[in-house]
Amino acid sequence: MRTPYRSRVAGVGSYLPERILSNFDLEKMVDTNDQWIKERTGIERRHLAAAGEYTSDLCLKATQRALEDAQMKASDLDLIVIATSTPDQVMPNTATVVQHKLGITDIPCLDVSAACSGFIYAISVADQFIRTGMYKNILVIGAEILHRMVNYKDRETCILFGDGAGAWILTQTDYDSKDGLMSTHLRANGEVGDLFVLPAGGSKIPFTQEVLDKGQHYVIMKGREIFRHAVRTLTECCHLALKANNLKSDQVDWVVPHQANVRILDSVAEYFEIPKEKVIVSLNETGNTSAASIPLAFDMAVKDGKIKRGQVILLAAFGAGLTSGSALLRY
Ligand code: ACO
Repeated sequence: MRTPYRSRVAGVGSYLPERILSNFDLEKMVDTNDQWIKERTGIERRHLAAAGEYTSDLCLKATQRALEDAQMKASDLDLIVIATSTPDQVMPNTATVVQHKLGITDIPCLDVSAACSGFIYAISVADQFIRTGMYKNILVIGAEILHRMVNYKDRETCILFGDGAGAWILTQTDYDSKDGLMSTHLRANGEVGDLFVLPAGGSKIPFTQEVLDKGQHYVIMKGREIFRHAVRTLTECCHLALKANNLKSDQVDWVVPHQANVRILDSVAEYFEIPKEKVIVSLNETGNTSAASIPLAFDMAVKDGKIKRGQVILLAAFGAGLTSGSALLRY
């Protein structure tokens, strides 16, 4: 939609909890080994929130860094959108908790639930508000404490996930400005929703002692099938973004995909015909941090001096649902 405005990334920040769970630590917990995990996933370690540290705390730290980067204050914000599948509590939403921790009031706050695609869904929501002229400065966060939903007796899932948060400040700029979000594309396929599920805790299976005994408060996953869907979906989402903007893959400086498995990322590079070196990989350090993974990987690449202002960046994600999406921007 053409309006007088578009969104520009004014600042980015991220936060990884201090505590580290390495592959060698996991060797002592389940029947696995460092070599298998590295070869099959690319993950070497993940960061875990400390006891008493909540998703909103991770959000707050990432936000403080993003506000500093944008040279803004919390009082400059008009809206908070948080992508998470691991809110502090089901109610109130985590965005209102973060608003309070930031010491501000009176701005709307919403959580977006789209699993690992959540951050792309969240920036797309924020972008619509900016394009219509409704809001000028929007805080968008992807944050998770997934390790509390993982069964550390299930070697297929417990090796994958970690905690963290990444935040962006999106700000209104002129449509004709050369920097900013060019497009977002959101997709979903509920037909394969059973591939990744957290069964209990909602209205379908409320918490009981039986739920705890059966371990229904932990995620369950059909990893091999997700892998197959992920490669196809990510590649399709990348092509949608390019087509909408009349660009070729060699005009993209960096692809920042959802960090699930390095073999998924390698396959996407191959199908998308882009050199592997242009695909940002941070999962070796973070594991899969779901909605936090893209803003974390983005910020780490900025701090590493890889992603620079003015470059064309393609974001792409897939997640439980299965949801998926892409976003193209000039940073
Ligand atoms: N350590 C050692 N061996 C293991 C482990 C482990 N941690 N996990 C599985 N294995 C074994 C299996 O039991 C199997 O043994 P078998 O051949 O004797 O039966 C063998 O390794 C191969 O298992 P596969 O499942 O075929 O392994 P694969 O290469 O597919 O890797 C993995 C599994 C890592 C889960 C991969 O399929 C994957 O990454 N899938 C995508 C998962 C994903 O992205 N999940 C996120 C969901 S999205 C969201 O919203 C959160």
